[in-house]
Amino acid sequence: MKKGLFFLVALCAYLLYTPVPEGITEPLRYRTLVAGTKLIDLVARCKDLIWPNAPNDMTTFRHAMDMTVIGLSDTKTGSNFKARVTYFDGVKVRLYEPIEKSSSLLPGFIYYHGGGFCIGSTEFYDGVTRQIADDLNAVVISVDYRLSPEHPFPAPFEDCLKASEWFISHAEEFGVDASRIGIGGDSAGGYLTSLVTQFLVMKNVQTKVQMLIYPATPLLDTATPGFQKYQHEFGNGGTLSLPFIARFYLYHILGSKNPEFEELFIQNNHLSPSMKETEFVKKYINHSLIPENMRSPSFYKGPTDPKTGSEAMWKEIEKVCLDSRFNAFQNLPMKGLPPAYIVTCGFDSIRDEGILYGEALKASGVGVTWKHYESAFHGIFWMEPIVSFDLGAKMRREALDFVKTLL
Ligand SMILES: *[C@@H]1O[C@H](CO)[C@@H](O)[C@H](O)[C@H]1NC(C)=O
Repeated sequence: MKKGLFFLVALCAYLLYTPVPEGITEPLRYRTLVAGTKLIDLVARCKDLIWPNAPNDMTTFRHAMDMTVIGLSDTKTGSNFKARVTYFDGVKVRLYEPIEKSSSLLPGFIYYHGGGFCIGSTEFYDGVTRQIADDLNAVVISVDYRLSPEHPFPAPFEDCLKASEWFISHAEEFGVDASRIGIGGDSAGGYLTSLVTQFLVMKNVQTKVQMLIYPATPLLDTATPGFQKYQHEFGNGGTLSLPFIARFYLYHILGSKNPEFEELFIQNNHLSPSMKETEFVKKYINHSLIPENMRSPSFYKGPTDPKTGSEAMWKEIEKVCLDSRFNAFQNLPMKGLPPAYIVTCGFDSIRDEGILYGEALKASGVGVTWKHYESAFHGIFWMEPIVSFDLGAKMRREALDFVKTLL
């Protein structure tokens, strides 16, 4: 009995202990969210212990996370949209169509969920995508793209491109005006949005807007001011730590785990010294493009030494990292891209990815609207029944208000 109580107290302490930096929004709810993530991680590890033949830690983590989706239904009180699962050109999608049919064509919106290419699902994002449908009064498709490590690069990208292209060319069958379609996503979904938007332009397919919510980019530099701020405030904690990103990154690129490479990535030595010195990297991953007030010397110690870097690792990942389906910078400058709405958060390790991609788009002549939420953290855009954030709700509302003006 006593032992049980001790265990419970220890477990709660473990789950609730987390750095909560000064100025972060809704700290109590934030703590609850992190505790939830840690519990899922713990469940995943226990399952790995009990069932050592589980394919890998990431898949187990994903399954454990999906188990938290309870009570999902096709309809929801107050919502005029009904969801169903279907396939577009062989790719699984969750489609939201109006229950009360409109006599005129509606706009359409395509969404790619976040989760580092490894976790997350359209079910997990039902709250977000349903809100998009309701607020925009648009037919929404949420693409259930294949995930890594089972399906590494380029599978997630190819699924998103395929499903989106198919939807746009069959828009009228769904009561959608093909000339009024927007695309968006958060985190890895933002990254996929930037790439798919580019490839659609290359195929002469026009979209109205790209909504990039705290997007990732090819992560050529893991010591940007944003990464240094995060490291200073959270260490290896928080909602998107470097070790966590390292695992996603290698599972996506290689389809397998590589602890040695993970460490090199964390140390910002995943590129070779000569790659770090290329005009390409210096131009796009330029710390001077980050506003000065976001490079406070209290956490920012300048760029890391470009002479450090791993030839061996770069040789393994170079081909993917410079592939135009992986590296959105690679395709710039490009004419005809739709206007971008970019959201970044102050407590996000990949804060600067969105800022730098926004600068690259601007240099390409694209209209960029950048909204920065200093007290927000990575993951806040997502909503769930148990913990939801007032600032996340505001972020969604502001993003959708903007998108509406363009659709
Ligand atoms: C980096 O950005 C700064 C500020 O815009 C600019 O002066 C500098 O030339 C840029 N460096 C490179 C290599 O593009």
